[in-house]
Amino acid sequence: MGFPEHRMRRLRSSGAMRRLVRQSSLSVDDLVYPLFTCRGEGLKEPIESMDGCFRLSPDLIAAEAAEVASLGIPAVLLFGLPENKDESGSEAWAEDGAVQESIRRIKDAVPDLLVITDVCLCAYTTTGHCGVIKDGRVDNDATCELLAKVALSHTQAGADIIAPSDMMDGRIHYIRQCLEENGFYDTAIMSYAAKYASAFYGPFRDAIDSTPQFGDRRGYQMDPANSDQAMQEIALDIEEGADIIMVKPALCFLDIIQRARTRFDCPIAAYFVSGEYMMINAAVKAGLLEEDAAMMEALTCVKRAGSDIIITYAAKTAARLLSPEANS
Ligand code: PBG
Repeated sequence: MGFPEHRMRRLRSSGAMRRLVRQSSLSVDDLVYPLFTCRGEGLKEPIESMDGCFRLSPDLIAAEAAEVASLGIPAVLLFGLPENKDESGSEAWAEDGAVQESIRRIKDAVPDLLVITDVCLCAYTTTGHCGVIKDGRVDNDATCELLAKVALSHTQAGADIIAPSDMMDGRIHYIRQCLEENGFYDTAIMSYAAKYASAFYGPFRDAIDSTPQFGDRRGYQMDPANSDQAMQEIALDIEEGADIIMVKPALCFLDIIQRARTRFDCPIAAYFVSGEYMMINAAVKAGLLEEDAAMMEALTCVKRAGSDIIITYAAKTAARLLSPEANS
């Protein structure tokens, strides 16, 4: 094989040719749009650390969800902010909590839009940790009991998919068992299975006020230097009853997505996190990168690495750019 029999440029010679041989393409069907909700009425507060994102009260969330659905995006991922924090994060499973109320409003207004809920305690605890503290450490099993309560309350409110992001051991088992016991046989679990202790969550923690008040999350989230352990985490979560597994963050962890793809058959989600999103936005604002092109390239690469689902704050923009009108 050599030159001139082979000229790689032949298949790059026109737009149609490039389209014909393209291996991965981002689709609106792959996208999940995160939404933030807080108690109150008529609230739509811009999140300063995250361009284009808002904290919405449940009464305004249905309209936002309807817009997301009209763009063809199949799912939203809900995050909640409590009115009051306490040691165990009890507002997380309050029947009238912002998330629970928002789920009901969305399901009422746009029943076909899938509602995924983030299940974690970090925004709800006074410590800002993802669980309850015992002897200076997050108590794993006690936290799993509480996470199951949160998951059940979301499911009772109508959530389609439960997404635990806490990184406790065994939490998928606890949640799955609790859902089965309560007759919720069809609720899917999307596990944040390989979630790394990443520096790229900064803008998000500002958004939901979930920065740990002491220490950090390295005692439960994964060390970014590890890859084999991600495979173990994923295998355990599938065994415990997860339907979809997630790798998070996405951009620095494309190798993990790809390894997971070759090894596991279940759908794989990748979370393009706040810091990744804002890193590109900041570079665009500084005039260093071309708006839209950089974001679409990054998202396409996350798809190419092997993810079926991409959770991104750029979902609405991407959906518009992918629409037939934008490409005619
Ligand atoms: C809650 C949670 C976090 C994110 C999603 N769920 C923050 C964290 O673990 O500190 C990060 C999302 C983002 O940065 O976009 N545990």
